[in-house]
Order: sequence, then structure tokens, then C-alpha cells
Amino acid sequence: MAYALEGKVAVVTGAGSGIGRALAHNLASKGCKLALADIDAAGLQETAAGIDTEVLTQKLDVADRAAVYAFADAVKGRFGTAHVVVNNAGVAVSQTIADLGYQDFEWLMGINFWGVVHGTKAFLPMLLAQDEGAVVNISSVFGLFAWPAQGAYNAAKFAVRGFTECLRIELRDTDVKAISVHPGGIKTNIVRNARVHVDHRGRRDAKALADEFQRLARTTPEKAAQIIVDGIERGRPRVLVGPDAVLMDKIQRLMPESYSGVLLKLSERLSK
Ligand SMILES: NC(=O)c1ccc[n+]([C@@H]2O[C@H](COP(=O)([O-])OP(=O)(O)OC[C@H]3O[C@@H](n4cnc5c(N)ncnc54)[C@H](O)[C@@H]3O)[C@@H](O)[C@H]2O)c1
Repeated sequence: MAYALEGKVAVVTGAGSGIGRALAHNLASKGCKLALADIDAAGLQETAAGIDTEVLTQKLDVADRAAVYAFADAVKGRFGTAHVVVNNAGVAVSQTIADLGYQDFEWLMGINFWGVVHGTKAFLPMLLAQDEGAVVNISSVFGLFAWPAQGAYNAAKFAVRGFTECLRIELRDTDVKAISVHPGGIKTNIVRNARVHVDHRGRRDAKALADEFQRLARTTPEKAAQIIVDGIERGRPRVLVGPDAVLMDKIQRLMPESYSGVLLKLSERLSK
């Protein structure tokens, strides 16, 4: 039976832009009350301005463990509980592993990995107490296969997948779901806001990479949100977002040792 979202409390991190903003709007249209967080207070206010259900907003750095637990307390204080927790906040770094600086690596892991851990563990007690709800962790297709100059991002997104799949198994006798989400290219600000040093072709031009991403990313954030929310309603364990994600997942599974040759060629052809 589909999980009914009407009247439920949904938490979304990274709600000030892109997929998080579209998720907030979609979940509001389903009748959810919302608790929205982002490090970008202005973006968050813009998101909240377009929503007419009850909404709590919080400027929050998901890498800050104490702040995430304080946010969970604030959500409980305001709404009594949470049902759907979407750990979506994320950033990108483009650099080879040989030249990757620890500062960039730790910045990314703090948000993309630890942010997901913090959000999961801070809210999980509420979901378990009511034996209902879903933890929705946004990984990536880069949590399914590796890509040059994405070592830090790959490490975080593979880790999010492993963490979420483990949680899913541990929750098998409950009515709490753990869903890992793997978007392909979604037209958002992620690459524009990334720390780009060098890209997968060895170029050092951040603008060229951002422009190419805008051209190649075919799925809109609104469509991505629709696919993710549909996955929550159906209680899907894994959600692939976009036709490119479906194709790349197939290629990785057919050729687990040699997919990179095919995927790099495909990317060359598409970028022309
Ligand atoms: N866009 C894509 O193609 C794509 C593909 C796969 C996965 N993803 C993942 O989707 C998620 C959303 O990304 P997006 O594409 O919407 O990007 P985006 O840049 O449009 O939005 C990300 C949001 O996260 C917020 N954020 C950044 N650091 C934060 C922090 N420390 N604490 C709280 N919020 C923070 C940003 O302010 C921003 O509002 C990320 O986890 C990203 O890795 C995106």
C-alpha cells in the first residue's frame, strides 16, 4: 500500500536550491508540514516563500553534529515528530586523488557523508518510536560507479549508499524505510557551486565544466523531486533518478570491471 504523505512532517536539508527546493514544493503539494534547513539562509527563505503549508526553516550546517541534533529537537518541539527525513544537502569537488587537498576532502565529507549520518541518527529515534516513516538519503550515480576527478565525491556517495543499505536491512522488521537515491544529471547549481580544480578531462576551466553540465544534465529538479517522492510513497529501497541514471546503472552492472571505458566514450560523444 502506498505511504500516505498527507499531514506528515517532512524534513529536507539543502532546501535552499535545486533538488531540495523542488522536494520541499512537491512534499508541500502532498500536504506535508515541512522542516527545511540550509546553510544558505536567503535561498531557504526563497523556498519557504513559495510554500503555503506549515513550515519551519533553520539555517544549518549539516556538518555540525550538535546543530543537527538541535534542529531535530526544534522539529520535535514544533511538530511533535518527523516522518520523512531527506538528507539532501550536498557539495562537489573536482580534483584528482593525487592532488586532492585534505581541506577540500574533509569539507566535502563533512557535508556529503557526515551530514547524512547526522541527519539519519538525529531523527531516527522519532521514526522508530512511532514505527513509521522514511529516511531518504541522497547519494548519486557517483555512488554506483567511479568517475575521474570525483574521488572525494565518489567516496562520500558510495559511503552514503553503504550506510543506507545497512540501515535498510537493520530496519527490516519495522515500518521505517531507508531509501537510497541515485540521481543522474539534474539541472541545478551543484557544479556552479563546486570547488573545481581540474575536471575528468584534465581541464582547469570551472566555467566550461559548469556550462557543459548545464547542457548535459537533462532532468529538471522538479522531475527529480517527483521521482523521489513517488519512490517514498511506494516505499522503494533504491531510487534511480533520470533516464541517464537508469542507463549508467545498467552499464555498471553489466561491466563491473570495465564500465569506465564505455562511460567515458559516451560522455565524450555527448559533450560534442
Ligand atoms: N545535480 C545533480 O546532477 C546531482 C546528481 C546526483 C546527486 N546530487 C545530489 O543531490 C543533492 C542536492 O544537490 P543539488 O544538485 O540540488 O545542488 P544545489 O547546489 O542546487 O543544492 C544544494 C544545497 O545544499 C546546500 N548546502 C551546501 N552545504 C551545506 C551545508 N553544509 N549544510 C546545509 N546545506 C548545505 C546548498 O546551500 C544548496 O542549497 C546533493 O547531495 C547532490 O550531491 C545531485
